[in-house]
Order: sequence, then C-alpha cells, then structure tokens
Amino acid sequence: MDNISRPPFIIWHDATITREQREKQNRHKGIVLWFTGLSGSGKSTLAHALEEHLHQRECHTFVLDGDNLRHGLCRDLGFSAESRRENIRRAAEVAKLFVEAGMIALTAFISPFQADRQQARKLIGPESFVEIYCQCPLDVCEQRDSKGLYQKARAGLIAEFTGISSPYEEPEQADLVLNTATHSVEACVAIMAAYLQPRLSDVLDLATVATKISTPLDSRT
Ligand code: ADX
Repeated sequence: MDNISRPPFIIWHDATITREQREKQNRHKGIVLWFTGLSGSGKSTLAHALEEHLHQRECHTFVLDGDNLRHGLCRDLGFSAESRRENIRRAAEVAKLFVEAGMIALTAFISPFQADRQQARKLIGPESFVEIYCQCPLDVCEQRDSKGLYQKARAGLIAEFTGISSPYEEPEQADLVLNTATHSVEACVAIMAAYLQPRLSDVLDLATVATKISTPLDSRT
C-alpha cells in the first residue's frame, strides 16, 4: 500500500444534510461507546445488551465487533502491535461515520494500547467518545474462556495473545469502569444507561427521549 496520509487531488465533498439534522431526526445525539478490555471480559455481551436497551427505547444503534470486522474489513490484519493499531484506526473511522449519521455506535475491540484508543478518541472527538473499560481479572477471563482461545494460547498454539503473550494497557482515564467479574449484565446496563442520559441529550432538547433511555420499558407512558 502507498504510504500516503492524505491522497492528493481528492477533494472533500460536504453532505447537504448535516449531522445535526440527522441527530434531530433520530432524536438523540450521535456518539461512540468504545468498549475495551481483555478477550472474555464482556465487551461484546455488554455492547449488545446495551444496544438492546437503547434500541427498545427508539435509539438508532449499531454494534461494531472486533471478531466480526476481522471477517471482512479487517481480514487482512493479524495481531502484531502494528496490525492492532491499523485495526483500531479502521474501526474508529467506521465509528466516526456512524456518529456523522447521528447514530450510537457501540464498539467491542480489545484495543489493548492506550495510544491507539487515544487516537480513536481524537479522531472521533472527545465530546462524542465514551471509553468503557470492561475490567475483569485475567484469571476470570481465562476461566470463562468462552471461545477456548486462552487454552490454545497457553498451549502455544496462538501467538501474541492479549494477556498471555501480548500486553493489555489498562485505561488510565476511562469514562466508565465496569467490573464485569462482580457486576451482572443488567447492573452494568443500568450504570451505562444512567451515565448516557445527559451525554445523549445535552445539546438537543430531548428531555423526553432522555428520560426514556433510563426508565424501565414497562413504566413508560
Ligand atoms: S484488537 O486487539 O485488534 O483490538 P480485536 O478486538 O479486533 O483485537 O479482536 C480480538 C478477538 O480476536 C478476540 O476476541 C479473539 O476472539 C480473537 N483473537 C484471535 N487471536 C487473538 C490474539 N492473538 N489476541 C487477541 N485476540 C485474538
């Protein structure tokens, strides 16, 4: 691939429908909820559970999952530090498009390096980026071993496995830290929903939708 940061002779074409117009139509702000944590820490589980919660409350959502993107857009990438950086760069660019579309993008990537997460935050804009650290001790993730990958990594069958033979740099300033070893999925969703209420509505006058986001479905009018 050519090593060009910005291609020459390619001119940006502005959309005629703005992000604000899309947000108004969607009745909430566009935002990225960036889940980070070890494999097996609950990123995908929580992203999908929160998506369900928000979707049921008329929010426009989409989950970008590391494993899924690696089946397509990122299928050419491995797990070296450089490949992971490129993986996160692509994921952040895609998530940014969702924000422009006025949507809530929930991303589930290990994203083990502080600098890569920082880059994603910078690209998307800190006001539209919520870093959610799924904190879970390695031994608990390893016990869960839902995909059987830790066992393979310990047996030396998978190289550069996060937590075993490749580092995970804990977030220093995550917006939310969820201890997924001690908290249930429902408890984590409740914490996230409460946190999100002002973040989704602090610019637009969306008090009604904001209230909907954190109330149980059956108590809605
Ligand atoms: S990241 O480090 O670049 O953010 P990503 O989230 O896309 O990783 O993919 C992680 C998923 O790939 C894990 O959930 C696991 O299922 C799988 N996987 C395969 N090999 C590895 C590895 N060496 N390290 C971590 N995860 C791996």
